[in-house]
Amino acid sequence: MLKLNRIKLQLQAIIILTFLFSGSAYTAEKAAKAEKTPNNNTPSKTTSPKKKVELVYGDVIMNKTEEGMRKGKVDGILFPHWFHRIRFRCKVCHEDTFKTEKGGNVVNMDAISAGEKCGMCHDGGIAQDPLDCDVCHFYPLDQDKNEAKVEKQEAAKPKNILFAGRSGKIAGKGDGRKLKGAHKWGAGWQPEALRMPGLPKDKYGLIDWVKLTRDGIALPKGSIDPENPLYESPVHYEFDEEGEKDVEDILIKTKSDTLADVVFPHTLHTWWLNCKSCHPKRFVRTAGNTQMTMKEMGKGKYCGECHGKVAFPLEDCARCHDKKKVEACKKSENCIFD
Ligand code: HEC
Ligand code: HEC
Ligand code: HEC
Ligand code: HEC
Ligand code: HEC
Ligand code: HEC
Repeated sequence: MLKLNRIKLQLQAIIILTFLFSGSAYTAEKAAKAEKTPNNNTPSKTTSPKKKVELVYGDVIMNKTEEGMRKGKVDGILFPHWFHRIRFRCKVCHEDTFKTEKGGNVVNMDAISAGEKCGMCHDGGIAQDPLDCDVCHFYPLDQDKNEAKVEKQEAAKPKNILFAGRSGKIAGKGDGRKLKGAHKWGAGWQPEALRMPGLPKDKYGLIDWVKLTRDGIALPKGSIDPENPLYESPVHYEFDEEGEKDVEDILIKTKSDTLADVVFPHTLHTWWLNCKSCHPKRFVRTAGNTQMTMKEMGKGKYCGECHGKVAFPLEDCARCHDKKKVEACKKSENCIFD
């Protein structure tokens, strides 16, 4: 009976993995499919020509105003998260200026020119002037029709692209289309960010943001206003600077016998994010009240709203299901568990 249960659990884990891989937005399959079907106008379930696929982890294509951009004869928008988050914490943009929801924000040039949305920084001061159209409008609107153009761009910087297999090991570098079965976990870097020497990487070759900030290699600002105390950003995971100092870490019991429980590091998250990024829209403010499954997370719910999109990927199981962290949490005064 016990053995059977074990097999059942392992099967469960495999199924979860399958869901994760089919659910997350940046899988190589989807990217490859999009690349392979350049002029295919028959919309498929996963990649219709309208639903364009980002090729880089953390990048978001913004195309709500596609018609307007076509009329204005400008290229499309690909918002590079990592390029921005190495300079600013999430709370600078989320949720007051942008909802953490792809396609959930209405942005147009009127707003930008008035100093709103992207224009709160792209005003010729903190970042480039909105008149520098090419800074933002550089991504081909017709990714498919312009495949040759994209290919050319990709080929121009093959060294910038790392590929990881499912084990998390680097499967190769260079032209991903030649790497059979390799997974492109989006490590086509923003060269600007990479040029900074000594960026710590996780096993996928993606930036390890926890190590980066803990070691003070880069300390993204918490505000664009030099007068705001959040502007300077000491690594301050112990407490939250907004005065809400009593957000304990939470031990979330896992509905599985084979995997370690999960410690949710509350203070670490509040360093990056405002409370309202998670409460009440994602999580109720009571420990143990949110029913979560990995399947849902793989589809972008709960932890998967950020992990797998902007924060480290869900495939990195042990970074959440970690026995050592569970033991440490239980011993700490700053840990909620029952
Ligand atoms: C400079 C501003 C800025 C910063 C800083 C920033 N974001 Fe975003 N974020 C955006 C914009 C713009 C979008 C796109 C929204 C849209 O498509 O309407 C976005 C979208 C998202 C999405 C939805 C992505 C998707 O694929 O569904 C998530 C999740 C997200 N951000 C999380 C984060 C996290 C976590 C951080 C900090 C580590 C962060 N963001 C930092 C501006 C920012
Ligand atoms: C919180 C401030 C802030 C906001 C909001 C912001 N940016 Fe930026 N952005 C910057 C800074 C700073 C730079 C770097 C400027 C420089 O290098 O001089 C930058 C650079 C860029 C670049 C150039 C990247 C490269 O490879 O050189 C792009 C593209 C870009 N932003 C797009 C956007 C878009 C699109 C939006 C709105 C959806 C946006 N940004 C909102 C601060 C911001
Ligand atoms: C800081 C980044 C940035 C710069 C610089 C920028 N744009 Fe945009 N632009 C955007 C974003 C973001 C959108 C909305 C994308 C979406 O969600 O569909 C947009 C949308 C548009 C649209 C369609 C919507 C509308 O407002 O009509 C046009 C046309 C356009 N831009 C033209 C331009 C031109 C021309 C320039 C240079 C004079 C320029 N943009 C500079 C970010 C930028
Ligand atoms: C990245 C997401 C995230 C952010 C940001 C966040 N929380 Fe939470 N919070 C959670 C999760 C997840 C839980 C646990 C929910 C559960 O177990 O059902 C939680 C639980 C709580 C609880 C209940 C703990 C208990 O004693 O039962 C409180 C109180 C709380 N959060 C306050 C805050 C405050 C205040 C902030 C801002 C300073 C904040 N949270 C920021 C995700 C977040
Ligand atoms: C971002 C953190 C995070 C990552 C990464 C993560 N998990 Fe989870 N996992 C959780 C949380 C939170 C729960 C919810 C606890 C519960 O209610 O069971 C959970 C629950 C589970 C469960 C029990 C509930 C269910 O869905 O059946 C299994 C099994 C599981 N995870 C497997 C995995 C595997 C396998 C991986 C790697 C492919 C993984 N997890 C990666 C956070 C994570
Ligand atoms: C709103 C966005 C968001 C949500 C929702 C979110 N996280 Fe995170 N999480 C982050 C960011 C940003 C980091 C910093 C590291 C990074 O970006 O890769 C982080 C870091 C972590 C770390 C630290 C890993 C380490 O190396 O120490 C753990 C563990 C973690 N998250 C677990 C969870 C779990 C479990 C949930 C769901 C209950 C969750 N997160 C929900 C954004 C989020």
